[in-house]
Amino acid sequence: MLKHHLNKLALKHLGRQWVDYLASNTMTEFNRRHNDFLWTYDLKALVENVREEAPGVKTFTLLPNQHWKHMKAGQHIEVLASVDGQQVSRYYSLSPIRRGRFTITVKQVDGGMLSTWLHQSARKGSVLHIRHPEGKFTYRQQRKLLFICAGSGITPCYSMISDCLAMPESPDLALYAQFSHTSDTIFSRTLTDWKGQFDVRVAYTREAHHSARLLSSAPLREQYPDLDERDVYLCGPQGFMDQVIAALTHEGYDLTRLHCERFVAQAWVPEPSAAFDPDGAEVHFEHLDEHICLTAEDKGRTFMEIAESRGLNLEVGCRQGMCGTCKLTLQSGEANGNVLGQAVYLCSAYPASNRVVLDA
Ligand SMILES: Cc1cc2nc3c(=O)[nH]c(=O)nc-3n(C[C@H](O)[C@H](O)[C@H](O)COP(=O)(O)OP(=O)(O)OC[C@H]3O[C@@H](n4cnc5c(N)ncnc54)[C@H](O)[C@@H]3O)c2cc1C
Ligand code: FES
Repeated sequence: MLKHHLNKLALKHLGRQWVDYLASNTMTEFNRRHNDFLWTYDLKALVENVREEAPGVKTFTLLPNQHWKHMKAGQHIEVLASVDGQQVSRYYSLSPIRRGRFTITVKQVDGGMLSTWLHQSARKGSVLHIRHPEGKFTYRQQRKLLFICAGSGITPCYSMISDCLAMPESPDLALYAQFSHTSDTIFSRTLTDWKGQFDVRVAYTREAHHSARLLSSAPLREQYPDLDERDVYLCGPQGFMDQVIAALTHEGYDLTRLHCERFVAQAWVPEPSAAFDPDGAEVHFEHLDEHICLTAEDKGRTFMEIAESRGLNLEVGCRQGMCGTCKLTLQSGEANGNVLGQAVYLCSAYPASNRVVLDA
């Protein structure tokens, strides 16, 4: 389409700052109606390409408009759409590619609203409403890393690994990726290329003959003797993540070095803990140098509700236990509700001991 061709040229040759300046100074109703990709105050992305990655998995190449700022590999965006008259939004991990573009890789979930809409309706030339990148599942300058993922959980790991490999001095990387069948392999060509560069193991739960051995088949430390030297990044279906966390715990691995991303949320309620009475308990937010004394009124309140009731401003996103924006690391004490390893999702987790210490 000519309009989008011109939009791309404008973003490429003028740059996002100039396009922003020009569009905001010529924001007429006419311009908005005829080109709502650039004449808008909203962040939007143009679909430039759609690629079949594996059966039921598509990668969309997106060019964001002038409101795009920056992203960190491993972060995600919120995609918003009207599906059957209903406003729906979901999160998708980003992979940066060249010239200010990025990709999202979406697995179509059976009966899923937005993944089905993206697969069926988003095509080259479509414009998507998106929000700015967020999330803390990002690389933190560690020297040795082990990525463990299953299914579409490979997407944020792929993004971080690509970023690390582009560094002048890449950290020491290892990747374990698990799928059901060979045909389900996401980023299959890249995984084959990576095998020549670092320790990449691709395992299949239903095709044992053609794969690396499953992570669950032997103790973790036997498979990764330098486990304790590596920060672990974990993403996949809940059952898979629970198994890996149990295996890491069994190995005595320092769970403060485990970084997790959850794709599917559930309703989180505080586990009944007859022994725990919040009255007089303390919650420490080490990174803010703040500590809160709890009262009986805090029973059943999430960490976020407790902090906000005391006027503490914490980073927050979806408030539904999904986006991970509010995650902090449990340094000591106990928490229940939405907790993964030592990662505590403040918006949907609850204190469960007399002294809880959290840090960024
Ligand atoms: C931080 C974050 C990053 C994410 N990144 C990606 C990504 O890169 N690629 C990607 O494909 N998805 C990703 N997701 C999942 C995505 O946001 C949606 O949840 C998923 O696409 C399903 O949305 P839907 O509207 O199609 O399904 P819904 O209409 O929300 O759900 C339909 C049914 O499917 C179940 N369901 C929802 N999600 C999943 C799932 N992932 N697997 C199995 N069952 C599910 C629901 O419990 C429900 O029963 C991410 C989620 C989060 C929180
Ligand atoms: S997980 Fe999104 S704000 Fe808590």
